[in-house]
Amino acid sequence: MAATVSQSAATTRAAERAGTVPAPRTRTGRPLPRGLAPGLFGVGTALPENLIGNDWFEQRLDTDDAWIVRRTGIRTRRWLDAGAPLAPLAAEATLAALADAGRTSDEVDHLIVTTITPDRLTPGLAVDVARLIGAHGCPAVDLNAACAGFLYALDQAAALVETGRARVVVVCGAEALSRLTDTEDRGTAVLFGDGAGAVVVAAGELDRGCARFVLGSDPEHSDLLYAEVGEHLLRMEGREVYRHAVARMVESTAQALEEAGLTVDDLDLFVAHQANSRIIEAAAAELGLPREKLAINVDRVANTSSASIPLALAQAEADGLLKPGATVALSAFGAGFVWGAGVVSWKERRYVCA
Ligand code: ACO
Repeated sequence: MAATVSQSAATTRAAERAGTVPAPRTRTGRPLPRGLAPGLFGVGTALPENLIGNDWFEQRLDTDDAWIVRRTGIRTRRWLDAGAPLAPLAAEATLAALADAGRTSDEVDHLIVTTITPDRLTPGLAVDVARLIGAHGCPAVDLNAACAGFLYALDQAAALVETGRARVVVVCGAEALSRLTDTEDRGTAVLFGDGAGAVVVAAGELDRGCARFVLGSDPEHSDLLYAEVGEHLLRMEGREVYRHAVARMVESTAQALEEAGLTVDDLDLFVAHQANSRIIEAAAAELGLPREKLAINVDRVANTSSASIPLALAQAEADGLLKPGATVALSAFGAGFVWGAGVVSWKERRYVCA
């Protein structure tokens, strides 16, 4: 049975009381043997209980449910209670992903938590998550690439496995965007949600695995989407961001497909960052992807930044859209600007090399 956050934390506290210093985990970095490749083997999610419907904004701002649904596709989002920490939510998602992959915390060689909303400036969220899941001594690092963070982290996880520097890597996207939301600005207040999603990256005898990633950045437009350290609120020129998001997501997805030697016809599902259903539909239309190959859960969770892709993957699997062996394109765009796309297989084999 999968460990819970409280069980894992209790193990950690017991080790702390006993004065046990966790042994650092290092790997020599021998490339994977021929025939083995990094792939995705498990997914887990966690959402706060507090459900915020569009009516919450109707009561406070000059907006209405019809506008929000028509322009964004969003109906509900989850928000952490004010002052509640994000780390336990990230730990819950991480443990669920490990259980789904048939792995335990002890086996995690590297933990990457991608977030723009850590609980503290330092230490990062990843160290707290490692403690809560009982991954003693595990290298744990935060990565900030805004809404593209999950793809950047996945690329690094695949590289760690490919080079033999890690055998099991967990990538967790965790966000509490409610902390950065200006609830008085109707142009942004309705857009954001909180949540966490994680995947397990490990090696297996895979035909496709993590086939290709294409990542990019462009600092030219950093003033179109940002949050200042002092103000701590997300500011965005929505229409401009929308335009750039569609263009970069289409370009990078097309490039990743081409470099993987695939076409859109080879794809079973397109799982894009869930910022706005219109962005996803516009990008898919330009790529030539039919509606039934799109994963969309922004209606339920809103824009959860780097948590959005793993949350969408899990939802797609629960809805029967994502089957083992499926070929999936991932795509994301966020503040920076930063963006990325990837072509991966989903749980291509149950077997994972030890
Ligand atoms: N309710 C009612 N009216 C609204 C609301 C609202 N909540 N918000 C804006 N409006 C109004 C505007 O004031 C404007 O009115 P005006 O014409 O009288 O000036 C009108 O609606 C149109 O405003 P736009 O901003 O042009 O609306 P648009 O159709 O572009 O939709 C949206 C806005 C949803 C924000 C869209 O631009 C968008 O999704 N942008 C991209 C968001 C995104 O991708 N973010 C990515 C990453 S976020 C991250 O990295 C954390």
